[in-house]
This record gives sequence, structure tokens and C-alpha cells, in this order.
Amino acid sequence: MSDPSGLNRREFLGAGTLAAAVLASAGAKAAERIAAADIDALLARMTLAEKLGQLAQARGQRNDTGPYVPAGSEADVRAGRIGSFLSVYGADTTRRLQRIAVEETRLGIPLLFADDVIHGFRTIFPVPLGEAASFDPAAAEKAARIAAVEATANGLHWTYAPMVDMARDPRWGRVVEGAGEDVELACRFAEARVRGFQGGKLSDPDAMMATAKHFVAYGAAEGGRDYDVADVSPRRLAEYYYPPFQAAIAAGAASVMAAFNEVNGVPMHANRELLRGVLRGAWKFDGLIVSDYTGIRELVAHGVAADDAEAGRLAMEAGIDIDMVSGIYADLLPAEGKAGRLDIAFVDAAARRLLKAKAALGLFADPYRNCDPARAKRDTLRREHRTAARDLARKSTVLLRNEGQVLPLSKAVRSVAVIGPLADDRRSMLGSWAPTGVAADAITPREGIAAALGSATRVLHAAGGEAALAAARDADAVILCLGEDWDMSGEARSRVALDLAPDQQALADAVLALGKPVATVIFAGRPLTIGALANRAPAILWAWHPGVEAGAALADLLFGDVSPSGRLPISFPRHVGQIPIHYDHRSTGRPASESERNSAKYVDAPWTPLYPFGHGLTYASVRYEALTLSSERVAPGAALDVAFWIANEGRFAVEEVVQLYLHDEVASTTRPVKALKRFARIALAPGERKRARFTLTAADFALLDADLAPVVEPGGFSLFVGGSSETALEARFTVEG
Ligand code: GLC
Repeated sequence: MSDPSGLNRREFLGAGTLAAAVLASAGAKAAERIAAADIDALLARMTLAEKLGQLAQARGQRNDTGPYVPAGSEADVRAGRIGSFLSVYGADTTRRLQRIAVEETRLGIPLLFADDVIHGFRTIFPVPLGEAASFDPAAAEKAARIAAVEATANGLHWTYAPMVDMARDPRWGRVVEGAGEDVELACRFAEARVRGFQGGKLSDPDAMMATAKHFVAYGAAEGGRDYDVADVSPRRLAEYYYPPFQAAIAAGAASVMAAFNEVNGVPMHANRELLRGVLRGAWKFDGLIVSDYTGIRELVAHGVAADDAEAGRLAMEAGIDIDMVSGIYADLLPAEGKAGRLDIAFVDAAARRLLKAKAALGLFADPYRNCDPARAKRDTLRREHRTAARDLARKSTVLLRNEGQVLPLSKAVRSVAVIGPLADDRRSMLGSWAPTGVAADAITPREGIAAALGSATRVLHAAGGEAALAAARDADAVILCLGEDWDMSGEARSRVALDLAPDQQALADAVLALGKPVATVIFAGRPLTIGALANRAPAILWAWHPGVEAGAALADLLFGDVSPSGRLPISFPRHVGQIPIHYDHRSTGRPASESERNSAKYVDAPWTPLYPFGHGLTYASVRYEALTLSSERVAPGAALDVAFWIANEGRFAVEEVVQLYLHDEVASTTRPVKALKRFARIALAPGERKRARFTLTAADFALLDADLAPVVEPGGFSLFVGGSSETALEARFTVEG
């Protein structure tokens, strides 16, 4: 096949290398201009089949997130039918495939290698919902940065993270992958994770493209059933589901992934209004839009495409740039284009965006930049990476109860029973979505506790049944490890009931009946309905799935080396029948009330959550006092300074997560009874008193008007500060007209 320009590959590569050299020396703007000229020149040389081949993503080792598709092959690469790979990594493996792309194809365009580096590459951090419980975006940014250092050292250029789907329904298994129910928290974590993955600039060797996913309203699935219908109002989209994507894009996210679900009757993979209209049009997003796994082909199952070819046309014309593993773009669209059934301008725009991404990553200058085995060995699972994972696992763990100060336990204990199905379950510590992690790297609770106590203490262990009860009987204290294993949450893991497994509840009942000091540790990828446990277990730690340092971090907390500090990023229902239940609910015309029969509540259960959003204890009691505002009247556009004191009344050093909520008392649309606006972690030594300060701006007072445009309406606001959404101090102020 001759090159339309007459230039052969080597000459073109020379031109590309020249451009790269000039890139390196010219100023950024000039470099960008040169790169764009290069890209247009390259695009002009490409056939339709080569453009569509670039837009095709093939799978590598894994086929675990959707219907079977064949893996991409070297022959496909050589034929120019693959522009990127999913789940192919490793310095040697990527170098082998990259060499074929660069040396054995007509134009030598380098490949992109992508994977789901969700909460760590090899050093696995707590699952994202657990990270969010740290209320520490900076720690999440650091975790993403470490993930990028390891992933790029092992051949990857692109991660399919952060998942920024808002979720109020813990029946939906993917609640584990996001940042919970609150928009403010989700936005801060979305931008932090994008910054962490992408680093300073994409051409840095340890930078990788981030992906804000899954656009949009995936968490609104009816019945909490994964992939099911999302039927949401334009206001709910704009107020609730869009903001974390806007935050991720504002932070520079290089790509967005389309969601599997339909939104209001139109599947996202064919949703021109939301992809071209909102994402590209209103928000001016000019990065890559990638399909989800076989998402394009699924338009046939959705019933909006008669066949694969139509599905491919719909997706391309809706704005999906990259076809993840369905094969349709490379296999079927060339013929659609030749037959005049496809607007080639869409293909050119998508191919141009992909080539720009490859150029931004520096791949034309150095296709092998991430293919160095020595770098992989040096940068993977480094000690400081594990230290960061241990720190974040500690910060993510939430102390739900500590009646009678059962915790912390003394290290002088002579014997301790570490029992339950999660007590020594190495794989589950990594959580549901750690495809590049290695279970052998994880420290289990049993191992972490034994290491912390040393040989002076007998550590008894059994996973369950009579042996576990016997171990509990024989020990001075018990650490009971229950919850979900790694495969009970995550994609395609929706549940109708969220109770502990019956055998786990039975073990808990039997152990608690012994009357010994029992610390219950729950590992899970979502809230569970643990009311039967919460009434009886005096001390409960919620550890999520904490990553490779699980056992070490847990021991740090159990024995008081560090106080727990995590807060719940999502409400814990008492009963699955309460779902959706969330703290930022509307008042309704008949607010739930004990005294009012006819009010928004249930006749067979309380309407309140078992544990509210933002809840979490420490090993100290922290007093909030002296809340002051810089003014009780706020002029239009003016800021409002808020200050209050917190005091550690206990004998342990703690980190308190202070939270500030607002309620707009009267507005042109109904408003949440409370909405988180600020939060911060504040360290307090025993007896220490500190002043917390926040500044609120007009953006914090704004709402979306009838046209969904942001507006600040004059009127009264209530302000709440405290250690959870069930807060401590309250004040009022008025925004003036
Ligand atoms: C999965 C998920 C998506 C992931 C992709 C590639 O089905 O929906 O989050 O990035 O496929 O594994």
C-alpha cells in the first residue's frame, strides 16, 4: 500500500522525530502548533481503514468485564487494525508490540497501552470508596501519583480512572469505585485523582492519561441493578451527576468514558445530546471519549441499532472516539464509509484527537519511553509506596462504635483470637478492582496483628465455625473479621440484601455472648445493613478493602499507635428498604417527624440511617465551640469567613475531620436540608485546642435556577459545623439581594 504523500515510513518517522526535536526546543505554543501541523500532515496520509484502525482498542490478557471478545494479535497490529490495547502491560510485552507498530506498519504510529489502574497498580491502596472515607484528597492524589509511577514504569500510558459516578444506592456493586453520595467530596476526590494520575504534564515519563468515567448517571441504575436504566431529570443531572465530571475535566482529565446505561431513553454510547451537546459543546471537552467494554456493540441489545454496523455509525456520530474491544470500528466502518453511510468528518476528528493524545504523551518522540525493565524493577512496589498505602489505609478506616472504650486494645494482652472469614483472606484485602495487583503482596489482619504484638502474645486464628469460637473462648481478647470478600462488590455485583452472611452473624452472636473484649472489623466494598451487629458489638471498625497494607494499618489502629480518623462518605441504611437514603435529602412538604403521623417516614422502621454521612469516631472526644461568622449579612458577591474552635478532651492524639454544611432556607427550587461545603483534617494532641477557619464565597450560596443556570438568590442560610452531617454547632446568615 503506497503512502498517498509518497513519503515512506522511515522518512515520515524522520519528520516525526524532527518535529519531536523541535518540540523539545521550541516554546510550548510553537511546539503545540508544530505538533498540530505534524498531526494534520499524518492524518492526510492515512487511509480510512488506518484511521479506524487507530480508533480500535483490542483487549489483552483479560476478558473479565464483559462478553467474550478475542484478544488483539500481533498480526492485527501489523495490519494497522489496532491503535491501543486494554490490559496489556509490562515493559517487555509492551516493547514487543510497540516495536511491531513502529517498525512494521506503514506509518509507524505508536500504540497506547491502557488498563484499569483504579486504586493502585502493584501497590494497591484502599478501594476508592475507602479512600474517600479519609476525607483527604491530598492523600488520594498521592496514591494516584504512586499508581502512575508504577503503571508507567510497566508500560502503561492510560488509566480508566477515576470513576466519578455519584451513588446513593449501595445495592449497586460499583458504589465501591466512586467517592460516595456527596457532590463536594466527590468533586474534590475527582480532581485530586486526575492530578495524581496525570502529574505535571502528560509528556512527563511518569504521567498517564486519566479517564473520568462513566459518563453519565451510571449510579442511578434502577433497582441498583448494574447496567440498568437511568431515568433522571435534567436538574438531577446538572446538580448531582455532572459536577464530578466537570471537576475532573477542569483538572485536565485527558479522557472520558461513556457509561453502559441509557439516560432517559437514549443509551450513552449513542447519546449525541449528552456527548456532543453537553460534553463537547457546553463544556468544550476536547479530550478522548472512549467507549466502555463492548459498549458500542451493546447498542443492538439496547434496541437502538438493528446491527453492529448501525451501532458503529451511531456511536461514531454521537462522539465516541475509541471503540473498546467491540471490533466494529475497525471491522465494519471502513465499508460504511466507502458506501457513503458514514460522515468521514467524525472519523477524522476522532483520529485527530487520538493522534494528539499520542503526541502529548511524547510517543512520537519516544515510543518506548515506558518500556524499560530496569525502571519497572526500580519503581514498582517501592517501600515508600507501601508506607503511603499504610497511611491511607489507616485514614480510610472508620470507627463506627467504641462503647466502653474497648479500643484501643493493649499490646500487653497475653492472647488474642483473630477470627472470621476475612481474618486471613489475602486476596480480599485488594478489593474487587485491582487487576494488576498481586494478592501475595497483601498483609492480612492476622499477619499484621501478629507482627504488631510480637512473640510475647499468643495469636490464635480460625476462619469460622466451632474452631473460631474455640479460639475466642481461649483468648483474652477477640478481633472478629467479617464482611464481604473481594468479589461481592464491584462491577456486576448488585445485591438485593446487604446483611452479613448468616454464618457470620451467628459467629458474631456467639463470640459476643462470651463477654470478652471484642473488636469487630468489617471489610466491605459498600455499606451493609449491620443493625443486628451494631446493637451488640461494642467496638466496630469499618475497613473497606484496605489494600496491600491492610493488616499493618489495622494493627496500628487496634493497638492505638494511631487513632482512627475516617468518616463515612455514604449513608449506612438500617434496612435495604430505605434505599435511596442520603443526608442531603429535600425537606418535602411533610418532613419526617416522630409526632406527625402523616409525614415522610416508614411505619415499620425509623426513617434515619444507621450511621449518617460524615460519621466517624476517634479515640478522643472532640469539643466544638465558639462558632463565629465574619458577618450576619453577606453583600452580593462578598465572601463569608467562618471560624470555630475544636478541643481534644481525650488522652490520644487524633485527626478530626471537621465538616461545614449549608442549608438555603428559602429558594426558587427546593434545596437539600444540608449540603457539605467544606471539610478538613485537623490534628489535635491530647488537650490541644485549635481554631478552624473557612471562607465561603458566592459559589457556595448558588443554586441552579429554572434554566439550570447558577444564580445566587438573596435570603437566609443556616450553617452547621461538626464532626458529621449530624452536626454540633449552628449559625444563620443572610445573603443580601
Ligand atoms: C468495564 C468497566 C470499565 C472498565 C472497562 C475496561 O466493563 O465498566 O469501568 O474501565 O470495562 O476494563
